[in-house]
Amino acid sequence: MTADTMRLTIRRPDDWHLHFRDGAMMEAVVPYTARQFARAIVMPNLKPPVTTVEAARAYRERIIAAVPAGMDFTPLMTCYLTDNIAADEVARGFEEGVWVAAKLYPAGATTNSDSGVTDVANLYPVLQRMEAIGMPLCVHGEVTHSDVDIFDREARFIDEVLIPLLAHFPDLKIIFEHITTKDAADFVMAAPANVAATITPQHLVLNRNALFEGGLRPHAYCLPVVKREEHRRAVRRAATSGSPKFFLGTDSAPHARDAKESDCGCAGIFNAPFALEVYATVFEEDGVLDRLEGFASVHGPAFYDMPLNEGTVTLEKAPVDVPAELSAGGDVIVPFRAGEMLSWRFV
Ligand code: NCD
Ligand code: ZN
Repeated sequence: MTADTMRLTIRRPDDWHLHFRDGAMMEAVVPYTARQFARAIVMPNLKPPVTTVEAARAYRERIIAAVPAGMDFTPLMTCYLTDNIAADEVARGFEEGVWVAAKLYPAGATTNSDSGVTDVANLYPVLQRMEAIGMPLCVHGEVTHSDVDIFDREARFIDEVLIPLLAHFPDLKIIFEHITTKDAADFVMAAPANVAATITPQHLVLNRNALFEGGLRPHAYCLPVVKREEHRRAVRRAATSGSPKFFLGTDSAPHARDAKESDCGCAGIFNAPFALEVYATVFEEDGVLDRLEGFASVHGPAFYDMPLNEGTVTLEKAPVDVPAELSAGGDVIVPFRAGEMLSWRFV
């Protein structure tokens, strides 16, 4: 390496939102995350969803078994909230150290959310308990009524669900997951310290034109869907602001290529293989590389009341080619930025 190669070493980061799936797909994708991140919040939207402590414990064991030898990685499990889940079960998983948080999916909002919550009022006993024991709530923040434009669903969720929820449970720790709008960024910035947000690589880089660039682009499709340029800019300002309310959550969501390139293509972008490289590019472009560590490695654990990681990771300013596709447990997955060259390389 030449003496003037730019290198960036930061405390080892965590991913505060991702999807590992299960079985052969899970075994294939876990190493990508374990390579970059020390810990990750694993979303519970499996089929069937992870709604019991025992299911979460078993899923955690399967993930740990898929971590390659010599890699140090800890999965952090979440509980899938349903209309009739028992507060006792949710609390027990948290108190036994199995769940670090519970996830609210509005029914029908996204991949495998059919068992999600039809009315947040149904969850009030559970949320009351979570507030009392300090268990964080991860929220997929979109309303789902068919009469609300898909690009407005996040903004409407703030007024219709989040504000009333916070009024009822002012001390509940809430993570507004994968925010995509100026509305959400502004809301979180102005909210009390118990409200934070995760931000994905794709929402920092893509606006909604990406869905239609030269034709229909299923690999740019995720939920919440990418928004107008003004929203991308606002989300990017929030991520790079240095505010402890915003932290890294890739929402890496692998789907087999044929499930994406389909008459009814699945929502989800598989960004785990080059997540840090994309975030680094964004922070460099905005002239705040010195803030990457806070976003990636400090704000998340601080919000979740967890220790910071001890180790470090290093990126160097050098080109890296993203493969056009990756094989994963018998399937083919197209990664985020497939076929492109990134300017930061994970060392
Ligand atoms: C996620 C998935 O595929 O599980 N999809 C996505 O587009 N982000 C679910 C989710 O986080 O909404
Ligand atoms: Zn997700």
